[in-house]
Amino acid sequence: MIDLRSDTVTLPPPEMMDCIYRAELGDDLYGEDPTVNRLQELAAQVTGKEAALLTTSGTMSNILAFMTHCRHGDEVVVGEGHHAVIYELGAPAAIAGVSFRSLPVNGMASYDIELLEQVIRTADLFEPPTGLIWTENTFAGDGGIVMPQSELAKISDVAKKHSLPVFMDGARLFNAAVYLGVEVSEICQYVDTVAFCLSKGLSAPLGSVLCGPADFIAEARRNRQKLGGGQRQAGIIAAAGIYAIEKMSLRLEEDHQNARTLAEGLAEIPGLAVDLSAVQTNIVVVELASDHLTQAELVERLGKRGVLVVPWTKGRIRLVTHYGVEEQDIEKAVQAISDVMKE
Ligand SMILES: Cc1ncc(COP(=O)(O)O)c(C=O)c1O
Repeated sequence: MIDLRSDTVTLPPPEMMDCIYRAELGDDLYGEDPTVNRLQELAAQVTGKEAALLTTSGTMSNILAFMTHCRHGDEVVVGEGHHAVIYELGAPAAIAGVSFRSLPVNGMASYDIELLEQVIRTADLFEPPTGLIWTENTFAGDGGIVMPQSELAKISDVAKKHSLPVFMDGARLFNAAVYLGVEVSEICQYVDTVAFCLSKGLSAPLGSVLCGPADFIAEARRNRQKLGGGQRQAGIIAAAGIYAIEKMSLRLEEDHQNARTLAEGLAEIPGLAVDLSAVQTNIVVVELASDHLTQAELVERLGKRGVLVVPWTKGRIRLVTHYGVEEQDIEKAVQAISDVMKE
């Protein structure tokens, strides 16, 4: 099987399993797991923030960001199509008590800056006050596109003007940094808080890290406890996370190259359309431009040929490259898709 459904399917490499096996452990709720402490220090250092907190998932980091930045009743400026809006079961409203002010996300993974200014509300007797500006980088909804640093700087300026915090859902933050050719901390300088996933392209079996000012992280730790997210000997997760940051982040360019080769191959196939300018990192979104096959038929027939992909928004499928998918797998996948399109 060539599994291109998501980078979440990555399995830990043997060396990472070795780190898990050898991890020094303690009780993290007493702050005594040395491996968790080391991971959190490393994550804070890499993002240029004061402190960091290990969580079980990207979704948990996101809900902690809403809970810790906002009060019940606050409104958060989010992007239509952001993961927290579509794929987190309404947790921001159900758990953190916030509502959304959704803006379209443009082709730069950013907002129209004038529109952003316009939708910010100041507290009065009637309107819900804006409590937070949300960003997602890379923006997974539109094929892993990356926000230019200049756009992020503009969002940061608007936020500062209105004394609002900016959070970045950086599930694939390291992919963004590789694409931009900058250090992760250079991206994070524009946001108050950020979370990145250790799983996904970095291949750890689970885990995410929320990073920000020390007082924010202390409060997020209490909120994590409220969610039942406190762990004891979590060093087994953190050990994989340290390996993920130190070693796996260094190979992401290979995934980006494979995604580009895949996209260019698919763009040549009659009946498929690919926006090559949107293929910036490890995600390829392909549009079915012919109606002789439905989205579901394409996914099913590819599955029978050993290529797994997911149906995306209407008439589109999504393919993601990651550790475990080699150059020759890309060639085979393009061939399989070409064959299916000829059937
Ligand atoms: C942009 C983004 N944010 C958050 C998440 C949630 O991560 P998790 O699956 O670890 O909860 C994902 C998962 O795919 C994602 O793509």
